[in-house]
Amino acid sequence: MSLLQITASTHSSVSSRLLRLSIFLLLSLPDSKGKAIWTAHLNITFQVGNRIISELGESGVFGNHSPLERVSGAVVLPKGWNQNACNPMTNFSRPEQADSWLALIERGGCTFTHKINVAAEKGANGVIIYNYPGTGNKVFPMSHQGTENIVAVMIGNLKGMELLHLIQKGVYVTIIIEVGRMHMPWLSHYVMSLFTFLAATVAYLFLYCAWVPRVPNSSIRGRRQIKADVKKAIGQLQLRVLKEGDKELDPNEDSCVVCFDIYKPEDVVRILTCKHFFHKACIDPWLLAHRTCPMCKCDILKT
Ligand SMILES: *[C@@H]1O[C@H](CO)[C@@H](O)[C@H](O)[C@H]1NC(C)=O
Ligand SMILES: *[C@@H]1O[C@H](CO)[C@@H](O)[C@H](O)[C@H]1NC(C)=O
Repeated sequence: MSLLQITASTHSSVSSRLLRLSIFLLLSLPDSKGKAIWTAHLNITFQVGNRIISELGESGVFGNHSPLERVSGAVVLPKGWNQNACNPMTNFSRPEQADSWLALIERGGCTFTHKINVAAEKGANGVIIYNYPGTGNKVFPMSHQGTENIVAVMIGNLKGMELLHLIQKGVYVTIIIEVGRMHMPWLSHYVMSLFTFLAATVAYLFLYCAWVPRVPNSSIRGRRQIKADVKKAIGQLQLRVLKEGDKELDPNEDSCVVCFDIYKPEDVVRILTCKHFFHKACIDPWLLAHRTCPMCKCDILKT
């Protein structure tokens, strides 16, 4: 009985968890309006002494409103100590030999749209914005409505500082921005939810199948245990061999209520704890089946 209750409660808690999962899955679906994220490969080239150093890395992400195009040029900083290009009058220290250039701008101070427009008005062919200090190399797709004609990518703060220091030392740095790979965070989120859901379903079925046959098994085990206890209790009950002259042999006394035979000398009788006695051959099978005294119903396991 208690086992059945446990099974039922496991059952209902698994069902409620399943229900919550399905709701989570449904709630996660509207997320699918989120756009795909495109990474940007940056091929950074600069000259140190007479060595040309070139490094390629998937170090940026395209802004949400950026054209997905290859763009290249010399990397140029805003003039002055402020690198955020929020001032509409910001000038860029564009090298004379560069016909195509990319503005390297710090995040913050104003909107992405604002600073991208400032650089675009000065003739930049692309904008690279680096993240806040302390964010390591974390990047995200920027939102910059209204600047759809110019490529804008975000790079991590560490990469941005590296470039900034090189250029501030007077190194001529060029970058080729290439379209990298597409990521669909909402898709992986959806797939994850689906997998979780399937895993939960499988786990539920597994639990269900594992629990159900255990109920009859354990009740069989319980019954076997009781039978063993009864046998043991019977073995502990007193036995007596009737002899000539015993008062049980008086014809006026009761006969055995199991077989209705009268008691004779040399009969083996078993005496229960309630003091009732019967032929051993009659009472043992009865007790195995009923556990109780046929006269007063007292339970041999309880006394
Ligand atoms: C990076 O750009 C440089 C200069 O344009 C070029 O020589 C080099 O092959 C490029 N590297 C890669 C890995 O594309
Ligand atoms: C940018 O250059 C123009 C013309 O040379 C100058 O008038 C302006 O003040 C400069 N802007 C800044 C922010 O220094």
